[in-house]
Amino acid sequence: MQSEKPGSKTVSGDLWWQKGIIYEVYIRSFNDSNGDGIGDLKGLTEKLDYLHDLGIDCVWVTPFYQSPMKDFGYDISDFKSVDKMFGTMKDFDELLHETHKRGMKLILDQVPNHTSDQHEWFKEARSSRDNPKRDWFIWADADAEGNPPNNWLAMFGGSAWEWDEKTEQFYYHAFLKEQPDLNWRNPEVQEAVLEEMRFWLDKGVDGFRVDVMWHLIKDEYFRDNPDNPDYKEEQPTYNQLQPVYSTDQPEVHDIIEKMRDLTDSYPERVLIGEIYLPIHQLVSYYGPDNQGAQLPFNFQLLTLPWEPKKIAIAIDQYEGALPNSGWPNWVIGNHDQSRLATKVGEAQARVAAMLLLTLRGTPTLYYGDEIGMQDVKIPKNEMQDPQGLHMPDKDLSRDPFRSPMPWNDSANAGFTTGKPWLRMAKNIDKLNVQAQQEDPDSLLALYKKLIALRRQEPALHKGRYRPVYSDDKLIAYLRETDEKRFLIVLNLSDKGRQFAPERFKFKGKVILSLLPDHENETVENEIRMKGDEGLIIELE
Ligand code: NOJ
Repeated sequence: MQSEKPGSKTVSGDLWWQKGIIYEVYIRSFNDSNGDGIGDLKGLTEKLDYLHDLGIDCVWVTPFYQSPMKDFGYDISDFKSVDKMFGTMKDFDELLHETHKRGMKLILDQVPNHTSDQHEWFKEARSSRDNPKRDWFIWADADAEGNPPNNWLAMFGGSAWEWDEKTEQFYYHAFLKEQPDLNWRNPEVQEAVLEEMRFWLDKGVDGFRVDVMWHLIKDEYFRDNPDNPDYKEEQPTYNQLQPVYSTDQPEVHDIIEKMRDLTDSYPERVLIGEIYLPIHQLVSYYGPDNQGAQLPFNFQLLTLPWEPKKIAIAIDQYEGALPNSGWPNWVIGNHDQSRLATKVGEAQARVAAMLLLTLRGTPTLYYGDEIGMQDVKIPKNEMQDPQGLHMPDKDLSRDPFRSPMPWNDSANAGFTTGKPWLRMAKNIDKLNVQAQQEDPDSLLALYKKLIALRRQEPALHKGRYRPVYSDDKLIAYLRETDEKRFLIVLNLSDKGRQFAPERFKFKGKVILSLLPDHENETVENEIRMKGDEGLIIELE
């Protein structure tokens, strides 16, 4: 068992998933080994040395299970399989073996909230009202006018209820109608999904990133969700209501505890939750007595505007709200959100890297952010993402954040010998891994330096966090152990600013700087920060 002692503030920070760095591989877009234009498991195995060299500790691979691909793998028709598109079970076993051989970990995407409508369970459930699997999904009668039982909305647009002609009931789907939600109140469902997780744990996977963890249980009375007075036209229609009855129900924590009991029965496994909730709700997913998710994903750097004051406050709120033995984490990008370099620009992407890799808590990177990949504009007639296709009058497609990884300056940037499934960026001949490997000043080189420093310095991977200063341009904080102290000063704007906090006196040597100006300089009590500058200072 690896659990920290409940109630102790002495979280060691020594477990692999605490001191390590997680890297999300969106499997379709990482590396294609067979020329069909779609990334695959073998392709990922071929690139493990790259990840190892970067300094990554753990690869999270997005769903590769059998799927009709209506939601690109998040609609699973057989949890214990590998879709032909991504390879074979042998390819998976090899990937796991090769990952472990390099001293890295592999975690899988677990999608327990819903299945594909082509999953055998759902086929059975919809075959008749008295099928034994009927109650494995969420069914409801129409009201007197033939309408759904309540106003709940699907994340991908429209009502969350779909009428089933044959058996004359509605079923609930939080996403596409081809993704019916499982009924987690049914103990048979619980057992069946846990059984599937066991299958992968027995193979030796190191944990799971659990998809939409906060959705798993819905209000048992199906009460209407209230309106959202802050709804804006450009948002998904889902945001018209506040999903207070369809998500984040108290009973969800019992389910997570069952998952955690299972992962804890294997050594050194980790349970990560995908959860989009405000900080105080989010931290409840550590569970009472730390028996929930070890890492409820913290998406604040993704969702907040790039404003130093807001970010500084969010860091403090998060640090303050963490339960005693809860280990923090920070996510800088994922396959559902606009790319970091698009959001903050090229220069600030460097500042963001320094922020992510000097904060307290496990960092999660999204493939390609280490080379500054940008969103790729996809013409409407090439749009593939169901979220974009189902709400065509809004700009909601996630395709731009999922374009294939550019590896070098050969055809299709070395991603595939075929036609990439999704348009690649125009500048892949310049912005690619190989080009950055050859350039000591590249973003990739910076990531490597930051990662190496973080690994080497306990103060940076497990030391305490202490806020020092923030204003409308700067953020400064300390990372410290009893032995060593680092001061990090970041300029989140492109304008210069004097850093001379009244209440904090310091003297030290700059050990890493984003601009050449301050490298190796000794600084005392004040620093002239140029725009887009970031410094790591080892204090005396
Ligand atoms: C969250 C995943 O990250 C997203 O890509 C997917 O569409 C939904 N869950 C549904 O599974």
